[in-house]
Amino acid sequence: MRSRPHDYELLDLGTAGHAESLSDAVVRGLTSERKSLPCHLFYDERGSRLFERITQLDEYYPTRADEEILRDRAREIVAATGPPIELVELGSGSSTKTAPLVDAILELQETLDYRPIDVSRAALEWGADSLLPDRPELRVRAVCGDYEDGLARLGPTTRRRLVLWLGSSIGNLTRPDAAAFLRRARRSLAPGDAFLIGIDLRKDRAVLEAAYDDAEGVTAEFNKNLLHRLRDELGAHVDPDAFVHRAVYDVEDGTVRMFLESLRDQIVRIESLGLEVPFTAGERVHTEDSTKYSLDEIARLAEDSGTTLERTWLDGEARFSESLFRRG
Ligand code: AVI
Repeated sequence: MRSRPHDYELLDLGTAGHAESLSDAVVRGLTSERKSLPCHLFYDERGSRLFERITQLDEYYPTRADEEILRDRAREIVAATGPPIELVELGSGSSTKTAPLVDAILELQETLDYRPIDVSRAALEWGADSLLPDRPELRVRAVCGDYEDGLARLGPTTRRRLVLWLGSSIGNLTRPDAAAFLRRARRSLAPGDAFLIGIDLRKDRAVLEAAYDDAEGVTAEFNKNLLHRLRDELGAHVDPDAFVHRAVYDVEDGTVRMFLESLRDQIVRIESLGLEVPFTAGERVHTEDSTKYSLDEIARLAEDSGTTLERTWLDGEARFSESLFRRG
């Protein structure tokens, strides 16, 4: 429960459900020659809980590395951005990584407006609950909706906006889509505003494949959650154990691809959609891409998105990065 409810305000744009629905995605993805399902479908309640567990796995270094940089470099990041700042966050989730930046900003200015944008109202409230106590100088003005709608509706400010996009979520877009997203997003910002983007780096195949195929099988369960959703929400006749989780690093593309692979010849019937989906043994459904960047590729992302790359910070083992991109 928020201790200072007057310091929390929510603008609900009603656009949070605009991503492709489960039925539409299943019809499109499972009737095409190369079967696929979009990764946003992972995140129902069960999938979100499984993702939380992934972030705590030994093998899944990105969350810890992201947190390490934000914790150790918050003051440098804030100084490089240049106060006075209004802090915006895309996909803020529970805002746990944000606290060090909030505190570093409040060392340099008396008040701060934090503007988290997320499709989940519950996550926004949870984030406010974790940040507001003990920070009387902080006001949370949350926006519930899609990122682009949220950015377009922030309204005017006299402060410099710093837009956080943490956790390497950008990796779940292809490189061209990531650049296109930033190009569109920068139009909602003023000259001098900046993005701070958490980007996972290229590295050894073994480290990456372990991060996406952990020994405990949590990522496998997360991937198979799609099959649970087909069964539970669409009434599909599908046995999740008739598929196996695969995570493969394509070194050339710098992308970890996840698949669900059919263990045998089988037909998945989904009567509610009038579909019979045949699988041969070994056939795969592509479920996620997680793109990794080199430092040169981060520089190219800036060029392709019409921003200026000002600085990149790495964690102690140079596995993960935070980059400051300025809107010129
Ligand atoms: C949310 N996203 C940044 C995660 C990633 O690393 O691409 C999703 C994930 N998939 C498997 N493990 C984690």
